[in-house]
Amino acid sequence: MLCCLRLPFTAQLRTSADLPVLSYRHAFHAGNHADVLKHMVLVHALDYLTSKDAPLWYIDTHAGAGRYEFSRGDTQGHAEYHEGIGALWEAATLPPALSRYREVIRLSNPDGQLRRYPGSPSIARMMLRPQDRIWLHELHPADARELERDSRHAPVPSRVIDTDGFAGLRALLPPQPRRALAIIDPSYEMDSDYRAVVDALRDALERFSSGVYLLWYPLLASRESRRLPERLEALGAQKWLHAQLLLRPLQAGGAGLLGSGMFVINPPWTLRAALEDCRSALLEHLAPGGEGSLEITSRES
Ligand SMILES: C[S@@+](CC[C@H](N)C(=O)[O-])C[C@H]1O[C@@H](n2cnc3c(N)ncnc32)[C@H](O)[C@@H]1O
Repeated sequence: MLCCLRLPFTAQLRTSADLPVLSYRHAFHAGNHADVLKHMVLVHALDYLTSKDAPLWYIDTHAGAGRYEFSRGDTQGHAEYHEGIGALWEAATLPPALSRYREVIRLSNPDGQLRRYPGSPSIARMMLRPQDRIWLHELHPADARELERDSRHAPVPSRVIDTDGFAGLRALLPPQPRRALAIIDPSYEMDSDYRAVVDALRDALERFSSGVYLLWYPLLASRESRRLPERLEALGAQKWLHAQLLLRPLQAGGAGLLGSGMFVINPPWTLRAALEDCRSALLEHLAPGGEGSLEITSRES
């Protein structure tokens, strides 16, 4: 383990050595349309939660490398960011939530040229305060090392934990300050991830029902992906918001990512209106073919 965190539970933690394959590298996808949706929601939620002085814990169950250079071969080869943040970069006007998200990404690109993309850990580091605390879980050894290096000089106390993020979340809840945002963003390389995210949220709600939980998932033609939304809604959380950004209709089927979804438990009350306000800009820039949609549903009580 990279950190000396003493985990207050006895369950066996999975380490990278236990996983048969860990081939997913977020560098190939950094800044794509899925990151735009995910990180726009993250930025909005962090702005909302840090509007109060009280300390906040940020828990990232699947952190990735934390930041990505577009000039490196791994991102350039795929260049998915061109259809994501790249498509928004030069837009003259954007609605407030999208503009604020771009402003945060610009902090990593101070000369105005889009050269790098901050992953969720870097976004948290840029937005949190000294009284907050960052917990990052990442199984891939190379990514965990990068996170560890960047955490050393961060003004916000940070811990990198190179064990299973689902177990890590369980170990950290309830959080000491009684305020926490957890982002759950697995790679869904294994079908078991679809079951694991539902189990993790059910457990998290039992341990700490007032936490803010952000779950990202891919919209694919597969049965597991299509069934996930109803399983999330059936968890019975009192308040949730569900946003699905589709680039092509789900019925189109076929291989590949059709879009992605964010399921947010205990969302900021401002989130629904903020997303509604971004609908036409998101579709104009990210789904210019005219086949896209943004569907938003929520439960308020
Ligand atoms: C989609 S990426 C995370 C991207 C990141 N959250 C962001 O928004 O910038 C998923 C990451 O989870 C890691 N991972 C896979 N299984 C894991 C597990 N059980 N626990 C912790 N990390 C895991 C992968 O190595 C990969 O880096």
